[in-house]
Amino acid sequence: MKINPKTFEGFNRVLTGVVVPRPIAFVSTISNSGNVNLSPYSFFNAVSYDPPLIIFSSSKFTSDGKLKDSLSNIEQNGEFVVNIVNENIVEAMNKTAAEYPEDVNEFDVANLTQIDSDLVKPPRLSESPVNMECKLERIITLGTEAHPQGLVIGEIIQLHIDDEIISGHRINHEKLKPVGRLAGNMYTHTYDVFELMRPSYEG
Ligand SMILES: Cc1cc2nc3c(=O)[nH]c(=O)nc-3n(C[C@H](O)[C@H](O)[C@H](O)COP(=O)(O)O)c2cc1C
Repeated sequence: MKINPKTFEGFNRVLTGVVVPRPIAFVSTISNSGNVNLSPYSFFNAVSYDPPLIIFSSSKFTSDGKLKDSLSNIEQNGEFVVNIVNENIVEAMNKTAAEYPEDVNEFDVANLTQIDSDLVKPPRLSESPVNMECKLERIITLGTEAHPQGLVIGEIIQLHIDDEIISGHRINHEKLKPVGRLAGNMYTHTYDVFELMRPSYEG
């Protein structure tokens, strides 16, 4: 089967079904008037070492046409925290994903604990094993008028990691217990791990 994205109804579901598993950024932000927000984004990845940059991409609008809070808050003050989602907090993460009004704090909705960040105003998530304090590098607007998307590029300026899961530079993934997103409401663990030595070319 060949699929032309322009003519295939609902191509977004095919796309997010084949680009899997996707890591999940659990993004905390705060508006200039002090509303705290916490929401998951699986259009997420690390894209540069120096400076250390991460990206996530948000639809501009919710299904009822309101600006998404995370994007709006980052546009206001250029700060956010990416908290890594592991299996201990995946159900709480899911609770935060409804389109709550902007004055609803999803930390409260999901019974999660916010703690102060060191260098940015948005709080970090205590229950997450990794928190990345980020300053906005830039937002790139993508998409069409009907489906505008904000690609947020952020520089990590401070990273917090649970001592239990790091040794030197090595991350213990059995302890990190990351969760990936598959299509729709499906997720995956990372229990079935294997090693593959990379070849070197000696031409
Ligand atoms: C696991 C998961 C991943 C998600 N990834 C994205 C994403 O990459 N981009 C997006 O726009 N919405 C994504 N959503 C939906 C948002 O989390 C949802 O619209 C949320 O209400 C946005 O909140 P905000 O308006 O408070 O920022 C995802 C939802 C879940 C459960």
